[in-house]
Amino acid sequence: MRVEVIGAGFVGVVTAVTLARFGHRVTVLDVDDRKIGKLSGGTAPFYEPGLDSLLREALASGCLDFRLFPAGLAKEAQLAMLCVGTPNDARGRTDLAQVDSAVAGLLAHGLPETIVIKSTVPVGTGRRLAKQLNDARPACRLVVNPEFLREGSALHDALHPDRIIVGVAEPAQASCLLELYRELEAPVLVTGLEEAELIKYASNAFLATRVSFINVLSRLCDHWGLDVNVVARGMGMDHRIGGQFLQAGIGFGGSCLPKDLDGLISQAAACGENVNLLRAVRWVNETQPAWVMEKIERALGGLQGKRVAAWGLSFKAGTDDRRGSPALELLGRLLEAGASVIAYDPTATGGPELPPGLQMAGSLYEPLSQADLLLVLTEWQEFQEADWDRVKSLLKGNVVLDGRNCLDPDRLATAGLTYLGVGRGRPVELRKGCFVWPPAS
Ligand code: UDX
Repeated sequence: MRVEVIGAGFVGVVTAVTLARFGHRVTVLDVDDRKIGKLSGGTAPFYEPGLDSLLREALASGCLDFRLFPAGLAKEAQLAMLCVGTPNDARGRTDLAQVDSAVAGLLAHGLPETIVIKSTVPVGTGRRLAKQLNDARPACRLVVNPEFLREGSALHDALHPDRIIVGVAEPAQASCLLELYRELEAPVLVTGLEEAELIKYASNAFLATRVSFINVLSRLCDHWGLDVNVVARGMGMDHRIGGQFLQAGIGFGGSCLPKDLDGLISQAAACGENVNLLRAVRWVNETQPAWVMEKIERALGGLQGKRVAAWGLSFKAGTDDRRGSPALELLGRLLEAGASVIAYDPTATGGPELPPGLQMAGSLYEPLSQADLLLVLTEWQEFQEADWDRVKSLLKGNVVLDGRNCLDPDRLATAGLTYLGVGRGRPVELRKGCFVWPPAS
């Protein structure tokens, strides 16, 4: 098929490279000419393992090219896929300006017979756009096809999805997506437009709920001196629960889970539902960095003038993305409390979103010298395989706080280090009832 992908971000580029690999002829369009230039040269403007090589392969095959939007729209395209950003405003409402701008460009420069919305859009958006498109071209059909790509494993998720969701106004309209994804061996669920939109929000909100649930248990484990990893393992042996997304730590971040949780809360509020369950999930996540901060403060006997070394700035391992990173939230709080912080991250260098005063190190052991405490904030393999005897020799203090519960406490104890996790079986002296829901308004 001849396909246009509008939006050269993480979702658009990964999707385009995958479709080109299936033999489709794909053009990616974006308003940012620098991004288009970089991608045309075979380099993605973001870190995603394995993407650059597949990108270069697709470019060399002639199945993929990058152009400016809307001037570069291909008249012969059969399908246009919207992969533009849908950020939230300050009140958690979804900003659809990029979606509306993409549709306006298509209406002005040539509307293919099929428009696919891959961007995450509030329930009801597809039906509104379908009417707008049908007024312009009655035969045009709109399909809602949400993505479930995880940063750091996006190519795997694109080539081996758990499911393909196809939201349509009429079942017959789903056939074009079946053709588009014919190379994929994944179950396809054809739904209504709105159900497809809600499946995306609901899936991310549920994943967020699991994380906040295990983080609540980590707090109880801190009070009771239990190991939450053991509790999670025992829970996960129930096939109805499963072991995924039960890793306690400093909380969930990224550009999706927080945004989609807020988006669902905001949509619910618009119909008068206050969805306290989802609000509590958000509250646990917003207070988890403070919970960890409390442990650091107690371990160091105060923060003023203390020196903290930190490993990991992105919102999780496998990516350089720092959007919504709980690591940055925590480091900002430490700096505000008067500590000095020097950080290392395998992919991230300096950048505008770093908290003021954060110092950056260029290698793993550089931050440790004379530090009172080491904070591990993302679960990179490089951190898990560190030389803990060397860590011990460099630190001034001897506490390592494992913000992702990804380290082996016994290995650190052997090196003479004091291990602190997030609910990892070392009773810590915490103020009773210091995190009470609902918060005093
Ligand atoms: C997520 C969804 O997984 C994906 O399906 C959707 O398309 C986009 O949003 P992503 O944001 O890349 O993907 O990251 P994910 O792997 O889901 O992790 C999200 C956050 O939760 C990270 O900060 C991670 O550290 C945290 N997390 C995840 C936990 O704290 N504990 C867990 O057990 C799992």
